[in-house]
Amino acid sequence: MTTVELPLLPLGKGKDLSTERGVECPGDLPAASDPDLVARAKAAKAALGDKVFVLGHHYQRDEVIQFADVTGDSFKLARDAAARPGAEYIVFCGVHFMAESADILTSDKQKVILPDLAAGCSMADMARLSQVEDAWDTLADAGVQDQVVPITYMNSTADIKAFCGRNGGAVCTSSNADVALEWAFAQKPDAKVLFFPDQHLGRNTAVLKMGYSLDDCVVWNPFKPKGGLTDEQLRDAKMILWKGHCSVHGKFSPDVVDELRAKDPDIKILVHPECKHEVVIKADLVGSTEFIIKTIEAAPAGSSWAIGTELNLVKRLADAHPDKKIAFLDRTVCFCSTMNRIDLPHLVWALESLVEGYEVNVIDVDDETERLADIALQRMLQLPGKSSRD
Ligand code: 13P
Ligand code: SF4
Repeated sequence: MTTVELPLLPLGKGKDLSTERGVECPGDLPAASDPDLVARAKAAKAALGDKVFVLGHHYQRDEVIQFADVTGDSFKLARDAAARPGAEYIVFCGVHFMAESADILTSDKQKVILPDLAAGCSMADMARLSQVEDAWDTLADAGVQDQVVPITYMNSTADIKAFCGRNGGAVCTSSNADVALEWAFAQKPDAKVLFFPDQHLGRNTAVLKMGYSLDDCVVWNPFKPKGGLTDEQLRDAKMILWKGHCSVHGKFSPDVVDELRAKDPDIKILVHPECKHEVVIKADLVGSTEFIIKTIEAAPAGSSWAIGTELNLVKRLADAHPDKKIAFLDRTVCFCSTMNRIDLPHLVWALESLVEGYEVNVIDVDDETERLADIALQRMLQLPGKSSRD
């Protein structure tokens, strides 16, 4: 029995920004009310055959995910994109930073297409290259830069990944952040990590998976002089956490965990590591979207769960496992609005444009950024295995 009561947000399509960003738009976006959208997507995909490969992140809408050739978390999708050298077009149903990573990891002959260019990520936007370079200079002035290894979460722009590639660092995802931190701390004697953009993933990984204390972590505020930190704080810290966060996962609160446990003492709390530390320490399990899916698949019938991650995924898990009680870990709706930008009209538009010979919304990272970002991505892909918990 599914006991989930998930409020439904009216999912307006919003304004298509693709033409405003100077991208050729060969035809109108189909109306969301068009009853033939599913048939049109099927027909366009069939016409393109092996030329096209559609990747779908777990947070995508049902109407889109049904057309994905593979689904995954951002780590798996990065690998899947790199493993399809035969596909001329990779249509990425996810957000901008994921499509950039796919472009970096695929050959120059392949084109990566993001069906709506407005599908960004507010967290990725919280670390700008100029801010990161200022921070780097400040670390030099404080006399600690030589000890610092920069690690960026996959949820960052390509130029931030390039910064890491250029400065001896690497990329990580929510499924391998502990392995990446272990690697980073082994790079230099008395190493420190500058971790961006998600302070929560950095803190949760350092403290809960690697045994560092909260006192080993300091938060770098890019809007304060010298990050709001003294030289002494920078010298003493092991983890310098960028003050960024996910607006979706930031909504989950420890009060709701307490409330749910009071109602059902057997309930298991399963959360994504982008949640705040005070939520994660109250959870039973923490892991990437792929980990969350595998945990629910392996759970016994009749077990109850409250899941703290994006709502499209939680709804899909509840629908797929009617024998388990699956609830959302918040009182209100919590979709990722930018992930939701990719809807069926945009997917149909992107696929039909390809059929008609137009390449729309191509994500093309410039060559030098690509070269340096690829260094950081390859360091991640060569890390020894994934987290033992995934
Ligand atoms: P994962 O896919 O790595 O779990 O990340 C979740 C996320 O927020 C993607 O934007
Ligand atoms: Fe970005 Fe959060 Fe949306 Fe993921 S869920 S794409 S981190 S805003």
